[in-house]
Amino acid sequence: MPPRSVGRPAGVQGHKVFIGTKLEEFCFAMAMLSQPAFVTPLVPCQNARNPAALRGAVQQFPKLLSAEPLIATPQTSALGSVAVVAVVALGVAAARRGGASKRAGRKSRVATCASACGKHCAEYKEELLSTVKALTNPGRGILAMDESNGTCGLRLESIGVENTEQNRRRWRETLLGTKGLGDYCGGAILFTETLYQDTTDGKKMTDLAKQNGVIPGIKVDTGLLPLVGGNEGENWCRGLDDLKERTTEFYKAGARFAKWRTTVRVRNHSDLAVSEAAHGLARYAAICQSSGLVPIIEPEILLDGEHSIDENFETFVETWSVVFKACADFGVMLEGVLLKPSMVTPGAQSGVKADAATIADYTLRALKKVVPPAVPGIMFLSGGQSEVEATLNLNAMNQSPNPWHISFSYARALQNTTLKTWAGKDENQVAAQAKLLQRAAANSKAQLGKYDPKTADEDASALEGMYVKDYSY
Ligand code: 13P
Repeated sequence: MPPRSVGRPAGVQGHKVFIGTKLEEFCFAMAMLSQPAFVTPLVPCQNARNPAALRGAVQQFPKLLSAEPLIATPQTSALGSVAVVAVVALGVAAARRGGASKRAGRKSRVATCASACGKHCAEYKEELLSTVKALTNPGRGILAMDESNGTCGLRLESIGVENTEQNRRRWRETLLGTKGLGDYCGGAILFTETLYQDTTDGKKMTDLAKQNGVIPGIKVDTGLLPLVGGNEGENWCRGLDDLKERTTEFYKAGARFAKWRTTVRVRNHSDLAVSEAAHGLARYAAICQSSGLVPIIEPEILLDGEHSIDENFETFVETWSVVFKACADFGVMLEGVLLKPSMVTPGAQSGVKADAATIADYTLRALKKVVPPAVPGIMFLSGGQSEVEATLNLNAMNQSPNPWHISFSYARALQNTTLKTWAGKDENQVAAQAKLLQRAAANSKAQLGKYDPKTADEDASALEGMYVKDYSY
C-alpha cells in the first residue's frame, strides 16, 4: 500500500511512531497522567510552551492525577509498562519540540492541551466518572438496543411481527423488564423513541431500566450519508449541529451515556473518511461530556470485504490513532469515555475464518498500540458474529489482565435467541427474558475470562451467524 500522508499522524502507516503532530503533545500529557511524581504545585496554564507549563495544565485534574486510581477496576491498575515507555518517549520528543518551537518564536500547540483540562465538563466531571465506573464494574457490559425504527422493524419482521410503535414497545419492554439484567449489563443504549416511551402499563421505559439496575443510554448520531469528496460508497455521520441542545434534553430524560456510530471500511478508504470519522467522534464526545453524558466512541471498522486480518489491523490502528488525536485536539476527557470498537477479524468475504485466540491476539495488539491507559473501558460491538462466537472472542481477550475493562456492548449477539424465543407473544415474555439473562451472564463470565462453552448449554440459535452485508443501524 503506498504511504498516505498529510493531515494525519505519520505513525499510522507501516507501524511507524507518531511524529510531528499534536498527538505527541497529547501523549506527553498522558505520560504526565501516568506519573504522579511529575505533579508540582499549581502552575497557571498561560505559558504553555514548555513541559513545566504543561504540568500546570495537567494539574487542573487533581483527582485524576492522584496516586490512587479514581476508577477502581483491576484493569486500570494493570498499566502496560510498554505503553508507559512508549508514551514517555513520545513525551520527551514533544518536550524537545516544545523547546525548538520556543526558539523559533512560534506559538506552541501544547496550548491545545490546556483545553483538555476538562473545563468543558467541569460541572459533570464527578458524575461522568461515576457513570463510567458503574458501566465498567467487573463482569458488566452494555446491552445495545438502539436500532433505528427501520432496523428494529427488520428484526421484528424476521419473527413475523409487524413494525408498529406498539410492537417495538412490547419488544423493548421485554428486554428492559428482565429482572437481574443489571447484574450483567450496567447500561442499555436506547433509541430516542424508547427514551421517551412509556411501557404498556404506563411506566417510563427509563424507570423500568433503572428498576432492573440498568443505566439508560442514548444513540445520538442521526445516521450515515454519502461522503462528498471521499471514495465511491464511503459515508460520514451527521448529528453535530443541534447535539448540544439534544444532549441537554436527553440528560433531563434520564440518559447518562451516549453512542455515536460511524464507519470506515478496510480496503480503499480515503484519508477524508478517516479524518471525518475522527472529527465527528471527537466533537460528539466533548459535547456529550459537557451535557453530563459519557460518550461511547464507535468508529466501526466494517467487516464487509475481502480483506485479510492484517489489513483490518492496519485500518484499526490508523483509524483509532486519528480518533485519539482528534480527541486531544477537542479536549475530550479520556477518563470519561468508553470505546466501542469492532474486533480485528478477516473480512466477511475473504473466505478465511479466524479462531478466537487469533482474533483476541490481533485485537489486543491493535488496542495496545493506540489506546491510552486512561481510557477506562472498551465495549465491543458484535458485528454479525453469532452469540457464542462473540462470547468466545470476548472470553479469549480476557485471559490475561488488560489495561482497560474489556467487555461487550452487543446488539445482535445479545438479542437473537431472546427475539426468537419471544416471537411476539406475551405468553413467551418470561422465557425470552430467561434467554436474555443467560446470554448476558455468559458474556459477563467472558468479561472475567471464565466462560466455558462445554458447560454453557447453548441454544442452536446462539450459533447462528448474523452478518448482513452493508448493515445499517
Ligand atoms: P451489533 O452488536 O449488532 O454489531 O451492534 C452493536 C452496535 O451498537 C452497532 O453500532
